[in-house]
Amino acid sequence: MKKRIAIIGAGPSGLAQLRAFQSAKQKGADIPEIVCFEKQSNWGGLWNYTWRTGLDEYGEPVHGSMYRYLWSNGPKEGLEFADYSFEEHFGKQIASYPPRAVLFDYIEGRVKKAGVRDWIRFSTAVRNVSYDIDRAKFTVTVKDLPKDYMYSEEFDHVIVASGHFSTPNVPEFQGMASFNGRVLHAHDFRDAREFAGQDILIVGTSYSAEDIGSQCWKYGCKSVTVSYRTAPMGFKWPSNWKEVPIITKLEGKTATFKDGTTANADALILCTGYQHHFPFLPDELRLKTRNRLAAADLYKGVAYVHNPRLFYLGMQDQWFTFNMFDAQAWWVRDAIMGRIAIPADKKVLLKDVTDRVAGEDAGADAHDAIHYQGEYVKELIAETDYPSFDVDGACEAFFEWKEHKKKDIMGFRNNAYKSVITGTMAPMHHTPWKDALDDSMESYLRN
Ligand SMILES: Cc1cc2nc3c(=O)[nH]c(=O)nc-3n(C[C@H](O)[C@H](O)[C@H](O)COP(=O)(O)OP(=O)(O)OC[C@H]3O[C@@H](n4cnc5c(N)ncnc54)[C@H](O)[C@@H]3O)c2cc1C
Ligand SMILES: NC(=O)c1ccc[n+]([C@@H]2O[C@H](COP(=O)([O-])OP(=O)(O)OC[C@H]3O[C@@H](n4cnc5c(N)ncnc54)[C@H](OP(=O)(O)O)[C@@H]3O)[C@@H](O)[C@H]2O)c1
Repeated sequence: MKKRIAIIGAGPSGLAQLRAFQSAKQKGADIPEIVCFEKQSNWGGLWNYTWRTGLDEYGEPVHGSMYRYLWSNGPKEGLEFADYSFEEHFGKQIASYPPRAVLFDYIEGRVKKAGVRDWIRFSTAVRNVSYDIDRAKFTVTVKDLPKDYMYSEEFDHVIVASGHFSTPNVPEFQGMASFNGRVLHAHDFRDAREFAGQDILIVGTSYSAEDIGSQCWKYGCKSVTVSYRTAPMGFKWPSNWKEVPIITKLEGKTATFKDGTTANADALILCTGYQHHFPFLPDELRLKTRNRLAAADLYKGVAYVHNPRLFYLGMQDQWFTFNMFDAQAWWVRDAIMGRIAIPADKKVLLKDVTDRVAGEDAGADAHDAIHYQGEYVKELIAETDYPSFDVDGACEAFFEWKEHKKKDIMGFRNNAYKSVITGTMAPMHHTPWKDALDDSMESYLRN
C-alpha cells in the first residue's frame, strides 16, 4: 500500500510541497499518494486576492489579508524559486518589486507547468485532524463546501500549510466601542482609495503598518498617524505623517497617546499582526508559537516534535518566503520518503529547537535575523536535491533593500537588484512607485 499524505492549504507553502513531490516523480521516484485540501476555490493562498472580508459565501472565515495595489514589500530577488526563475516565467527579466497580480502569476506558472492541480481538492475546508497512535494513522475530516458534505479519510502523514497571517490579533483600547470613526484590522483592509481625504490612525510598526500607511498616503489620505507600543519605525516620512506613542484613550474622533498628545482620526486601522490559529487541530497536534524565526516545537523548523509524522510549513516569521518554503517542502518530502531520518529520540528533537531559539536570540538586529534565516535555508537545501542557489546573494539583496528603505521609504521600490538564479540585473521600473497608480500586470510588464 502506498503511503497517503494530506497537505492542508494550497498557498505558496502547500504548492511548494506539491512541486517537491512532483519533481521527485519526474526523476523516476515512486512517490506517495498526495491529497491537498484547499478551502478556497483557487490556489495561491494570500496571493489569491479576494474582495470579501469577514465570512465567505459558505460562512467560512475569509483567509485573504491582501489588498488592492499591494506590491511586494521586499525585492523579488530574495524569493525567486531556484527551479523556476522570473525570466523563465515571463520570458524576460522584470522589475524588482512586482505587484500582487504579477507574483500570483509567477507562483501559478510553476505549478501549472508541474501539472499538479489535480492533486488539490478545492473548496474543501479541513475541519478536524486526529491521530491514532496504535495504527499510526491520521484521520482528516473535511467539508466539501459547495456540496455541503463532510467526510473523513486516513493518512500516514499530515502537512499543515495553512499560513499564519490570516487570523488577526485585535487588541482593544479604552473608548474603542464609542469611537466615531471606522475601526478595522489590516486583515480586512482592501482598498486605500476608501481613505482618500481622511485622517487615518494606525497601530503597529511592522510591515502592515508601514505598507498600509504608505498605500493610504499614495492614494490621497489627508494624514497618517502611527501609534507604536515598543518603538517608532523611524523612517523619513512625508510631512503629513507622524509617529506617536501608544493610544491610551479614544473619545469621539480623538485619540490620546501615552505622552499626553492627541490626534483626530476618521479611521483606526489596527496593524497589530496575526495569530497562529489552527481550529482544526486538537491540543496534542496543535503548534503553539509566537511569530518568530525559530518557531516553537518544530525540529528543523518543520517536524512537530511531539509527533514527527506531522509537519508544518512556513510557520516562521518571514524574511525569506517562497524559496524558504521550497527548502522546507523538499526536506519534508525526503523525510516522508525515508531519504532523511528524523531522530527517534525526542530529546534530540527538543535540543534542535532550543539551539535554534538560542541562535535567533543571539542576533542583535535585522541584519543578523536575515543572515540567520539565510543560514537556515542553506542548511535545509544542503540535505536535499533542491537546486542550490546563492543564498548569501539573496541576503545581500535584503541588506541593500534595508538601506534603500532608510534612504527613501516612499522610493525604495524604485531600485533594482541582480537575480541570484539567472545572474541578470532587473530593469528599473518605468514609473516611480508613488506615481504608479495602475498596478495591473499589463502595466507592470511594460518594461
Ligand atoms: C498583507 C500581506 C502581504 C504580504 N506580502 C508579502 C510579500 O510582499 N512578499 C512575500 O514574500 N511575502 C509576503 N507576505 C507573506 C506571506 O505569508 C507569504 O508570501 C505566503 O503567502 C505564505 O504562504 P503560505 O502558503 O504559508 O500561507 P498562505 O498564503 O496564507 O496560504 C495558506 C492556504 O491555506 C488555506 N487554508 C487555511 N486553512 C485551511 C483549512 N482549514 N482547510 C483548507 N485550506 C485551508 C488557505 O485558504 C490558503 O490558501 C505577505 C503577507 C501578508 C499578510
Ligand atoms: N507586501 C507587503 O507590502 C506587505 C504588507 C503588509 C504585510 N506584509 C507581511 O505580512 C506579515 C505580517 O506583518 P504585520 O505587520 O501584519 O505583523 P507583524 O510583523 O507580526 O507585526 C505586528 C505589529 O503589531 C504590533 N502590536 C501587536 N500587538 C499590539 C498591541 N496590543 N498594541 C500595539 N501594538 C501591537 C507589534 O508591535 P511590537 O513591536 O510592540 O510588538 C508589531 O509592530 C509580514 O510577513 C509582512 O511581511 C507584507
